[in-house]
Amino acid sequence: MKQAQKHPVRLERQGNIALIVIENPPVNALGAAVRRGIAAALNAAVAHEKTDAIIIAANGRTFPAGADIREFDMEPQEPSLGQLCSLVENASKPVIAAIHGTTLGGGLELAMASHYRIATQNTRMGLPEIHLGILPGAGGTQRLPRLIGPELALDIMLSGNQISAPIALEIGLVDQICEEDLRGEAVTYARALNAARPTSLNRSNLVDGATYMASVNARREKIKLELGANALAPLKIVDCVEAALLLPIDGGLDLERAAFEDCLASRESAGLRHAFFAERAAAKFPEAAEVKPAQVDRVAIVGGGLMGSGIAIAALQSGFAVTLVEQGESGVNEALERIGEFYERSIAKGRLSEAQGAAALTHLQLTNKLDTLNEADLIIEAVAEDFDLKASMLAEIGAVAKAGAVIATNTSYLDLDALAGSTGRPSDTIGLHFFAPAQVNKLVEVGVHDAASAQSVVTGLGFVKALGKVAVRARVSGGFGAGYIGNAILTAYRQAADIMLEDGATPPQIDGAMRAFGFQLGPYQVADMSGLDIAYARRQSTPRDGNSRYVEIADNMVAQGWLGQKTNRGYYIYTDGHRHGVPNGDVLKMIAEYRAQKGITPRKFSDRDIRDRILLAIVNAGARLLGEGVAARPSDIDTVMIHGFGYPRGRGGPMMDADATTPSIIASRMSVLAHEDANIWGAAPVLTMLAQERQRFADLNKA
Ligand code: CAA
Repeated sequence: MKQAQKHPVRLERQGNIALIVIENPPVNALGAAVRRGIAAALNAAVAHEKTDAIIIAANGRTFPAGADIREFDMEPQEPSLGQLCSLVENASKPVIAAIHGTTLGGGLELAMASHYRIATQNTRMGLPEIHLGILPGAGGTQRLPRLIGPELALDIMLSGNQISAPIALEIGLVDQICEEDLRGEAVTYARALNAARPTSLNRSNLVDGATYMASVNARREKIKLELGANALAPLKIVDCVEAALLLPIDGGLDLERAAFEDCLASRESAGLRHAFFAERAAAKFPEAAEVKPAQVDRVAIVGGGLMGSGIAIAALQSGFAVTLVEQGESGVNEALERIGEFYERSIAKGRLSEAQGAAALTHLQLTNKLDTLNEADLIIEAVAEDFDLKASMLAEIGAVAKAGAVIATNTSYLDLDALAGSTGRPSDTIGLHFFAPAQVNKLVEVGVHDAASAQSVVTGLGFVKALGKVAVRARVSGGFGAGYIGNAILTAYRQAADIMLEDGATPPQIDGAMRAFGFQLGPYQVADMSGLDIAYARRQSTPRDGNSRYVEIADNMVAQGWLGQKTNRGYYIYTDGHRHGVPNGDVLKMIAEYRAQKGITPRKFSDRDIRDRILLAIVNAGARLLGEGVAARPSDIDTVMIHGFGYPRGRGGPMMDADATTPSIIASRMSVLAHEDANIWGAAPVLTMLAQERQRFADLNKA
């Protein structure tokens, strides 16, 4: 966040109307100075005998987008946002909130405490606190049900979704939508008012107590069923909405304050807030200080397989013109079918209208002619993961791409330096490592190698942001994990699991332990889903690390043709198209025989042993990536793990988790495990350094 403005609130006058104007870029967050400024301006405006009405408005891109989240870990300062909202609501003269941009969280609460609300046509409103593991803590849980009833209020607060101004008008959240000049129309609106209208006195949505309570109770049961009885913030939101009916406003506000503080103190909220800032920190590339992104209008993708088609869809959905190049007519047709299927499904599920689907497809050009690439500003190579194939394709791309175009390869583990060299234009070339399914997964690692120019890196970053995706910079050097953060960690994760498999654990047991930790799927379920042949091909093409044990179980399965879901048989057996298989007894038998051949006496692993070993392996791999400069900061690793591999977001990521245990305890636990696999559990220098200096990974985030 930029340095807070010294005087972020101004009081202006237009005749008998007082205007309180907030200016605290970039999103007018309601930090302490802003709250003090609004309170002082309000008191002055009310005290002025010539004031008939007061408008609260904001300069810049938005009405406040919420409380200042960074202040949540600091000593509270008065007035709190709740106190400010009460002050606004209790003002003796009418207060109008003139809102625009993304009026979120505390910003919407301030608007709801105002007596009237006028919004621009494209204002978006919402209470996204649930995404931070908290609830609206400045009266939102009490005022929203009073304004729009319990059902819609619960929808908004439990989903965290934004609603548009026309919908807000329809449901009674705003009073008027302005056509052009928000400030001017707000002044005209204010001149016609003659009385304050406190939201807390509005009982129209509280009169039918039985229906109200039925909504509350049904929602409470639904949450318990779907999320469990410990779903803190969702259940507290329901309690607060119940209190809005049962208690006078002051009691409701007290209950809300206590609930907010309980949520704020939770580990989950700390994790979710860390994840929020980690994503934004990850997108800050040093190259962006040097250059601005070049304009990208047309994107070309070479290769229309699952990955290439997914990238094409993501680009179309974000309004880019897309050229997709495939080999021969059949390749073109298959890619068209894949993309067409996505649009059909999206239309059938109501996510897109037919018109939107048709409009997106008009921007797609499918071709088998490579020379069309010379129209593109950014070209992404997404052919199969084979070095020779990619290198020869990149050489052809380098020959036809127009001057200034950025060339990206979607390789996930091949040598990026060498691939960039094969284009003949290494400075124009970067890595863009999308995660499957690329039309859904929000993560893209931007691979930066020695010869890449700042311009191509920043243009690649700009493209990823324009897709609405989360960008993480990986300084790819051909080292550990062949560079990318996600792959290096995944390799360590799988290796730790395979070692336990060899020593006595079973795939279902390991998967179950990781699901209990919070992953959606365990490592062997993921292996079955992605196909054992993919990981096999990779193992074959990567040199073995002499410090690591080589576990051959997966190779033996490939030899049997048990490739996972695609052959209906992998670590699990899949029948009748079911995506959740049952444990494959043949694999368990094969593992037992394999251990016997190697003279390994199986031993028992508790779920805790499994989880600890895997998490230590992940953290250690993360520390290595930091030491090698592949990852710039620990929170980048957290972002990759959350978005790329489904690490539970409420935990903030593995590096945040490691800090909770402390690096020194982690290092000492690993010294016990290092003899089992020195590569996986031999402490990385960064971890040892942190342990010795009694520091945490968070200290490296600040650097
Ligand atoms: N507090 C502090 N900083 C915030 C912030 C907030 N509420 N919202 C955004 N920022 C910061 C971001 O960290 C970022 O800072 P840097 O430039 O230093 O990285 C900057 O504002 C711009 O944010 P984005 O990069 O996210 O910009 P965007 O245009 O893509 O998105 C946004 C804008 C939709 C407002 C998005 O930032 C967002 O969703 N913010 C969070 C909104 C939110 O959760 N509000 C509720 C807060 S909790 C609350 O209000 C509780 C209460 O009741 C008391």
